[in-house]
Amino acid sequence: MNEQIVILDFGSQYTQVIARRVREHNVYSIILRCDTPAHEIAKLQPRGIILSGGPASVYAKNAPLPDRNIFELGVPILGICYGVQLFAQFLGGRVEKGLKREYGKSTLRVTDNFCPLFANLPEILQVWNSHGDKLTKLPRDFKPVAVTENSEYAAIENRALKFFGLQFHPEVVHTPRGKEVIANFVHNICGCGKNWTMRGYIARAVEEIRAQVGGEKVILGLSGGVDSSVAAALIHKAIGDQLTCIFVNNGLLRAREAEVVQEVFGRNFKIKLQYEDAAKLFLKRLKGVTDPERKRKIIGKTFIEVFQAAIPRSRDARKAKKFLAQGTLYPDVIESVPIAGNPAALIKSHHNVGGLPKKMKFALVEPLKCLFKDEVRQLGIALGLPNEIVLRQPFPGPGLAVRILGEVTPPRLKILRNADGIVVEEMKNSGWYYRIWQSFAVLLPVRSVGVMGDERTYDYTIAIRAVESQDGMTADWVKLPYELLEKLASRIINEVKGVNRCVFDITSKPPGTIEWE
Ligand code: XMP
Repeated sequence: MNEQIVILDFGSQYTQVIARRVREHNVYSIILRCDTPAHEIAKLQPRGIILSGGPASVYAKNAPLPDRNIFELGVPILGICYGVQLFAQFLGGRVEKGLKREYGKSTLRVTDNFCPLFANLPEILQVWNSHGDKLTKLPRDFKPVAVTENSEYAAIENRALKFFGLQFHPEVVHTPRGKEVIANFVHNICGCGKNWTMRGYIARAVEEIRAQVGGEKVILGLSGGVDSSVAAALIHKAIGDQLTCIFVNNGLLRAREAEVVQEVFGRNFKIKLQYEDAAKLFLKRLKGVTDPERKRKIIGKTFIEVFQAAIPRSRDARKAKKFLAQGTLYPDVIESVPIAGNPAALIKSHHNVGGLPKKMKFALVEPLKCLFKDEVRQLGIALGLPNEIVLRQPFPGPGLAVRILGEVTPPRLKILRNADGIVVEEMKNSGWYYRIWQSFAVLLPVRSVGVMGDERTYDYTIAIRAVESQDGMTADWVKLPYELLEKLASRIINEVKGVNRCVFDITSKPPGTIEWE
């Protein structure tokens, strides 16, 4: 078994960030519900436990609490924010409502140079806080090891038990040296080596896939997105021709999308690729439809139909396919406890669009199930997938249909494809494409008057959207440089027939969504 750190989730919006930070130090981490029984945690033989932050107060009536026996497991524990207040709650200290909320940057002064959590770090550190409650009495045998202006217990320890608590958040980027604090915990205090690497992961995953599948056949719906592409490459490495990928062209793809997928997987990787050209069917069903939800429903339903019909055709004469592979990622499977008043909990699971019917009797092969997106990209690179696939931005299942407001027609698709191609090209040329979550064009059903040469025009408007996000659940619009915006607008208006105006979308999410439909 891998050396691992267990993270108990008390509802912090940063729990997954903690898990990623641990993994960045080549130590495997898993997130468990905060109330996971201690004996189940013990079975995993974790090297350490991290108690995440959370929005509740430990003294509140419905406060999420851990099994108290976790403090008896003899395993090092790091409590972060709410996590440190749990020490007080369980081990005899006191937590009270602070006079004022401590939020944002502050300066931490380490008062005990021998605390292993701060080994090789300077005495003064910039840290980031976000809490209303305050530790007012330490549990027995704990002592403070660092202070901030507002808190004499900004970091505490019981070195003998290897219990440590931080009032600030070491996992966020606003605590610039927080990574080193986490490294000190996992390496120096918990004694973990650096065993979690993508190379090691490939070797283990290949073994596991072979053991699961044996000599049977596997099918995979390849969308061309990062997740299904990496899953395809990994499974192909494990079982070669036992894998068939089905790629459905729904007619709503970006320019050159179908060609790239065929080139990369068919020609380079020599993966068995079944290309289903269903563009006509999708467009026929979308004819005259303008309601966004109806569009999505039609596309989802048609996709399932086409995919289901494609499976028997992919069947070779002797062997039925028992396995369906999916590029499910770790954030999709983390089980969270709904915590009252936690908005992060409410917006989760918004876009779980696996989409394939449960009643189809397949066993699932999900080799990316314990990976985060950034790890999937690393894995893709390690498997030899080109950057064009591995570093691509997310693209919605219903494709360009949700970026054409109003009816989806072939001429409108052509306009949007051309405009979108320019956005992608210029974003890549300027390097911005790789820095942000998504950038794309949207075709508005609005026509306006312009002049081109000496002629009056009456054409469509393209909206350019560029957003920054961690996971698509919230997003900020990106302040692209004016020069780049100017280039995008001038190229789109000059090169895309049917467009005479460009606007830039400056809406964040919430209140907007990333896609326009
Ligand atoms: P919204 O528009 O809800 O999008 O802010 C959040 C993220 O999800 C993507 N998205 C989808 N992805 N199928 C997908 O696979 C869909 O139906 C879908 N709708 C939106 C969107 O591109 C953004 O990254």
